[in-house]
Amino acid sequence: MGAGWPRGRWRQMRASDPARQAWPPYLVLWVLLLYIEAMTDAPLIPASPSEDDYVRQVTEATPPPLLPEGDPIRLFEEWLAEAGKGEPSDPNAVALSTVDADGLPDSRMVLLKSVDARGFVFYTNTQSAKGVELDGQPKAALLFHWKSLRRQVRVRGVVEPVTEAEADAYFASRARHSQLGAWASDQSRPLPDRLALERRVAEMALKFGLGKVPRPPHWSGYRVAPQVIEFWRDRPFRLHERLVYERVGEGWGTTRLYP
Ligand SMILES: Cc1cc2nc3c(=O)[nH]c(=O)nc-3n(C[C@H](O)[C@H](O)[C@H](O)COP(=O)(O)O)c2cc1C
Repeated sequence: MGAGWPRGRWRQMRASDPARQAWPPYLVLWVLLLYIEAMTDAPLIPASPSEDDYVRQVTEATPPPLLPEGDPIRLFEEWLAEAGKGEPSDPNAVALSTVDADGLPDSRMVLLKSVDARGFVFYTNTQSAKGVELDGQPKAALLFHWKSLRRQVRVRGVVEPVTEAEADAYFASRARHSQLGAWASDQSRPLPDRLALERRVAEMALKFGLGKVPRPPHWSGYRVAPQVIEFWRDRPFRLHERLVYERVGEGWGTTRLYP
């Protein structure tokens, strides 16, 4: 409002504007609602479901049949397929736990790239922290959690490298820039600054030109050969269902556990 706008003129305009006359109560309400919303932010840690929430769950859904005691790999594939339909991203993401030379556990996410009766395969830099830890202690635990399905699968087993042919085939299927990235990244070692990484990627792009990018010698896959696989499924009132498969010779024994 400039100096040429006397106060009286402004008040007169407000008073003569029909919209202004009609709006104030709504405007006030709107501001009030905004204020209440700001003051009642959702809690950081969600509250546990109430008795009523559970009762609603129990009455609305037909209870699923108990988990089958057959082939755990088939059951895992079924769960992964279901997760693939609903999870917004990376249904194959899995937490991989290893131990370091002092026996201190270490966990990080990796992507499951194949699964069959032999085990669960992921790919990485073999000189990374996980690679070094697996060299020292070739055993690992995997933990899948599909939040929207309310399911988890835990796998424990010994770890072995995949064959050169398997690693080559998977590496060849990756995007060219990811292939260059595998050459450029000294995974898990200190990076002076972001530019250093980008410079390395550019150097690798120059080095390989338009030709095929071969698999780096320090990049391969690991297979976790399962000794134990546990399936966990959410049930109302925290009375969850747990079924553990354990290797017995070439087959599997099963045990159901208290939740
Ligand atoms: C969803 C998700 C998937 C990932 N997948 C891989 C993977 O397949 N291989 C890999 O080396 N790192 C993957 N990472 C990065 C790792 O979590 C980790 O940062 C990296 O491997 C270095 O781990 P390390 O220092 O324990 O070796 C993934 C991260 C996320 C969040």
